[in-house]
Amino acid sequence: MSSLAFGYRKSQLIKMSKILVVDDERGIQRALKGVLEDEGFAVETVASGEECLKLLEHETFSCILLDIWLPGIDGIETFERIKASYPDVVVLMISGHGTIETAVRATKLGAFDFIEKPLHLEKTVQSVRNALQQAQLKLESQQLRSNELVNECKIIGDSAPMRALRQQINVAAPTNGRVLIYGESGTGKELVAQSLHTQSLRNSNPFIAMNCAAVPEELIESELFGHIKGAFTGAYQNKRGKFELADTGTLFLDEVADMSLKMQAKVLRVLEEQSFEPVGSSNSITVDVRIIAATNKRLDEEIEKGNFRTDLFYRLNVIPFQIPSLRQHMEDIAQLVEHFNQIHCRKNKLQNKKFTDDAIDIMQNYDWPGNVRQLSSVVERVVIMNQKTRIEAEDIPVGKSEQILPNIHYNYDSYREANEAYEKEFITRKLIELQGNITRTAETIGIDRSYLYRRMKALGISSKQNGS
Ligand SMILES: Nc1ncnc2c1ncn2[C@@H]1O[C@H](COP(=O)(O)OP(=O)(O)OP(=O)(O)O)[C@@H](O)[C@H]1O
Ligand SMILES: [Mg+2]
Repeated sequence: MSSLAFGYRKSQLIKMSKILVVDDERGIQRALKGVLEDEGFAVETVASGEECLKLLEHETFSCILLDIWLPGIDGIETFERIKASYPDVVVLMISGHGTIETAVRATKLGAFDFIEKPLHLEKTVQSVRNALQQAQLKLESQQLRSNELVNECKIIGDSAPMRALRQQINVAAPTNGRVLIYGESGTGKELVAQSLHTQSLRNSNPFIAMNCAAVPEELIESELFGHIKGAFTGAYQNKRGKFELADTGTLFLDEVADMSLKMQAKVLRVLEEQSFEPVGSSNSITVDVRIIAATNKRLDEEIEKGNFRTDLFYRLNVIPFQIPSLRQHMEDIAQLVEHFNQIHCRKNKLQNKKFTDDAIDIMQNYDWPGNVRQLSSVVERVVIMNQKTRIEAEDIPVGKSEQILPNIHYNYDSYREANEAYEKEFITRKLIELQGNITRTAETIGIDRSYLYRRMKALGISSKQNGS
């Protein structure tokens, strides 16, 4: 059913313009069929709401002419059922004497229009043409919106590293080769995974993303392979797993280095056998899934530490991609800023801002530990918080000491590590501000000089922070 409904969105179907006439009067069926066929439409006729709904299960129509008075379920009820299952199909009600009020009500419920009996055939043809034209316009505006979405998925940047990346994507995308994407946090790993999918032969099939770090140990199998109703406490319904959802498409295993060893063993088995059993079922399901994985950790180190299986690594790492950090393609900043300016202004219903050269300059002199994602949030914050159109250097929050703090990468597992990272950044920055003068720094931040000295030693901070 739902795939039929989707069918209405495809423009070729609208152009083919198949029309269904639902009326129990043979004379009307014949007259409408004749005049519409003369106009080049393909026309089918049925005599009841039930027949109409049955036919819609197998066939797609661009426009339905629906009589209000029908034997069995009436036109209004038929109309409501059509709308529920095929929201995009255009319906014109046919109203007889005494049913005009009902027809008006139907247009309020979403029928395109109504035509009155006795039918004026010329006018009827005109109404059908109008209806189809409107549907076409609606479709085009939907396509425009989806193009905007495509734009958000575009990889921006003309720097050598970004051009090389796009080139690599072009080569790898149409194959079924497994890609393992490396890159610091916020560099665009997921975006690259999506592009690989969109440019592949699987692009009309699903792209399913799974965050491997976020799966609780006891749900691993159910998440990956699904389960059948009653398989365990809480399994109230059958549930399809990620591998089944991604069948014929792409499964994106994000943060793959953070997979538990148990999950690694399960994934490895599917990769070897291309099949699995849902939890509680003995029926094996065979799938055709392309795997793309991503990580911001070094897998060789994880393997060394015993956190990652070598055999799984070799299976995933067929085509390795290294996404450069933003620091490695700073020349793209102006373009990226303009790109995010457009995206965030549109999202927040604001007029596009103009970033001055000085503003861009500030951003080009910052080191972006959170990479493109951080740049995107800074631009979003700036366009929202500034009501004026021109964005100047002083409107850019980065580079000012109190604003850098939130950018510490939240990649720490323990409180202690996170705390130390924060402390280190804080002390280092204060030292830079005060030209490496330990006594003044201690005074300024309100701790004892000897304590500051001990902390610097413990955190490995050199005292030569002379501000340059
Ligand atoms: N070259 C680029 N052009 C346009 N947008 C980009 C580019 N790189 C990243 N982005 C955007 O930056 C944001 C972060 O990218 P993404 O989520 O793909 O990064 P990630 O590497 O998966 O990050 P994390 O490690 O934090 O999960 C997204 O909104 C993405 O669209
Ligand atoms: Mg990501």
